[in-house]
Amino acid sequence: MSDPTTGEGSAAPRPGDGTRAVRAGLPEPAKYEPTLPGPVFAAHFHLPGDPTGPYTYGRDENPTWTLLEQAIGELEAPEQDGVETLVFASGMAAVSAVLFSQLGAGDVAVLPDDGYQALPLARAQLETYGIEVRTAPTGGDAQLDVLDGAKLLWIETPSNPGLDVCDIRRLAEEAHARGALVAVDNTLATPLGQRPLELGADFAVASGTKQLTGHGDVLLGYVTGRDATAMAAVRRWRKITGAIPGPMEAWLAHRSIATLQLRVDRQNATALTLARALRERSEVTGLRYPGLPDDPSYAVASRQMRRFGCVVSFTLPTRARAERFLDALRLVDGATSFGGVRSTAERRGRWGGDAVPEGFIRFSVGAEDADDLVADVLHALDTSAD
Ligand SMILES: Cc1ncc(COP(=O)(O)O)c(C=O)c1O
Repeated sequence: MSDPTTGEGSAAPRPGDGTRAVRAGLPEPAKYEPTLPGPVFAAHFHLPGDPTGPYTYGRDENPTWTLLEQAIGELEAPEQDGVETLVFASGMAAVSAVLFSQLGAGDVAVLPDDGYQALPLARAQLETYGIEVRTAPTGGDAQLDVLDGAKLLWIETPSNPGLDVCDIRRLAEEAHARGALVAVDNTLATPLGQRPLELGADFAVASGTKQLTGHGDVLLGYVTGRDATAMAAVRRWRKITGAIPGPMEAWLAHRSIATLQLRVDRQNATALTLARALRERSEVTGLRYPGLPDDPSYAVASRQMRRFGCVVSFTLPTRARAERFLDALRLVDGATSFGGVRSTAERRGRWGGDAVPEGFIRFSVGAEDADDLVADVLHALDTSAD
């Protein structure tokens, strides 16, 4: 029989994203076995004699991770051989694993200055180890200007929360020409929205806490990479820090990936609808959604992204107006994070870490009916007016 996830063994066209998502990482069917084996709870595995793998100790490997890593790898890099995926306890565990395993004293790293708000903390930590960190904005491929001599270029596109986009292929080509490795934070896009390794990156790194798992109940991270030596260092870092996901979280994540395409398509379509509705409102400024044809990022985004994400950002005139707006929403939870099936929104300035106006809202669109959600937002805009 042909393999339905790769199309190998037949002349059938490569299956679509929904087909690949529901089958990603599943073991060969075996009589009386479940389709997706349950979580394996094991601190250690029976291991008489020489301690050879695949499963020795629960901090190093776990069969539930193995299936999840296979699933994520199939989505991040479907056509690429020799690619490896490692799962982590959280997105930051994965981010740190790449930064701290690839860089040492005297190295130079280039980071975005408008990325996820824990990146400055990572930057400060890198600097204590004698690593020089340069930063530049995501938009306009500005990181190119500070790339000379760098060992690692870190890209976050679309950026969180500003939703700027940079050209991964162009930056990766330039970085490689100057001898730097390239990591792309693929959290916001998900592997169904963008495949950084195909665009030339060495690592795709993400928080699986967001749309990848999509139910707001799991913390997870992963690194997918093509370079065996670099990935061995990432694996070693996971072993040293022990930043591993629990088997239950790994299994929940794998279970959730089956609906990834359904959720992403629904949520992202509604995000576009919401962005269009917000564009008509005079009190809304700074509206950003990379899938909106008049967004400053649209040209680059539509070249490298297959889906544009479920996050819309915009600014209301004042902090008080933004707070009243959030309070008036009935279908949207006031919460941080994004990507879940239940819409969430927050005034991003409340954390103090992002360079955004006081009235800046990061809105994560869930799987509610688009009409209901847009009506709720418009009602909240009306009732929060001065
Ligand atoms: C772009 C991005 N990268 C990484 C992270 C960190 O992920 P986690 O919260 O799973 O550690 C986040 C979290 O919001 C994020 O938005």
